[in-house]
Amino acid sequence: MNDTTNEFHGLESVDGRAVVGRRIVWHETTASTNDDARRAAEAGEPEGLVVIADVQTAGRGRMSRSWISPPGRDLLFSVLLRPDAADLPKMPLLAGLAVARTLDAFTSQRVTLKWPNDVRAADRKISGTLAESGHSDAGYYAVIGTGVNVNLDAAAHPEIAEIATSLRTLNGRSVSRREVMRRLLKEMDDIYASPGAMSALVSDWSERLETIGQEIDVLWGDESIHGVAEGVDDSGRLLLRDRDGVVHRLEAGEVTLQTTPR
Ligand code: BTN
Repeated sequence: MNDTTNEFHGLESVDGRAVVGRRIVWHETTASTNDDARRAAEAGEPEGLVVIADVQTAGRGRMSRSWISPPGRDLLFSVLLRPDAADLPKMPLLAGLAVARTLDAFTSQRVTLKWPNDVRAADRKISGTLAESGHSDAGYYAVIGTGVNVNLDAAAHPEIAEIATSLRTLNGRSVSRREVMRRLLKEMDDIYASPGAMSALVSDWSERLETIGQEIDVLWGDESIHGVAEGVDDSGRLLLRDRDGVVHRLEAGEVTLQTTPR
């Protein structure tokens, strides 16, 4: 690692965090920070590791999509945690809520969540999370991989030009990745290290969900279900009432949502 180009140097020891970011590893280039964190987990790394990259050559999104981010502009990172097994399903929510709270400090736009964990501002996506879990000799682990568009110019990327935004686009000036990362680690740690905040996580997260009450189409492999998103259960699964009144309980890993045009 060349620390003269590492914007995140020294973030381990600020803000007195308890767990998240106890060790921070920065790569100028890596395939995927989720893969790096997963390898570390399998090798017995304690929780709290954060892997950050300037460039990912195989950055992954949900549903096998790729994640677009030009070199050195945005936040691309993964956090390794070892929660109780009962808290594993909440890990993607932890990232979504922490990102939304962080972005509140950097934009005057309303920051909302689209189920399961897209963070949105000005009707566009500004952040996404791919959470993966596993079990090794040291027990269950979660790898929470998050991309936050800090200085991205989405207009320069036709695939996302109409659907993505960044802090720079919202504010009309570039924003310090280090400052966003610093605040985000603190927000994640404040939730994860506090039993009270973990208990309130699903309800705090669902208060920001723009999906509730919307008519949506859910794509599930080759199948599609149309219905109204009625709420979420204790683990953050979406409750979707279809045309026949049947309520489906949807896991984040399985589906994509499309808001039905009215
Ligand atoms: C999504 O919205 O589809 C999730 C995107 C997750 C992207 C992040 S970038 C850092 C981490 N490493 C990856 O390969 N993916 C996640």
